[in-house]
Amino acid sequence: MKMDERTGTDMFAPYKTLVRMVINGRECRVPENNSVLRCLQYLAVDAVSEAELCWNGDCMNCKVWIARQGNGKPAIACRHMVSDGMEITKLSEHLEEAMKDAFSGDDDVNILEL
Ligand code: FES
Repeated sequence: MKMDERTGTDMFAPYKTLVRMVINGRECRVPENNSVLRCLQYLAVDAVSEAELCWNGDCMNCKVWIARQGNGKPAIACRHMVSDGMEITKLSEHLEEAMKDAFSGDDDVNILEL
């Protein structure tokens, strides 16, 4: 269980299983019942925790584009819940920077190579 240092509570909403999410062509396993931003934090806990993010819908630094019928539709990752099979086609600059080490492919078992 990972704790949120700001609140002292569990970082993630309760979940029983991991669901599939594709980010920029990378297949990942992330916790169900959580926001897209929490799922990104699950994959890169330190980098996302330290990124310039408000977590409450104000800053817009967590913008992502979700594939729907071939077009990426923008969404706010801290306000949008993950769903199984969700495909994210683009991350904001802040999130792209935060996720770059997780996507470098070294040691995160939750990011699967396609
Ligand atoms: S983290 Fe600021 S709007 Fe989502």
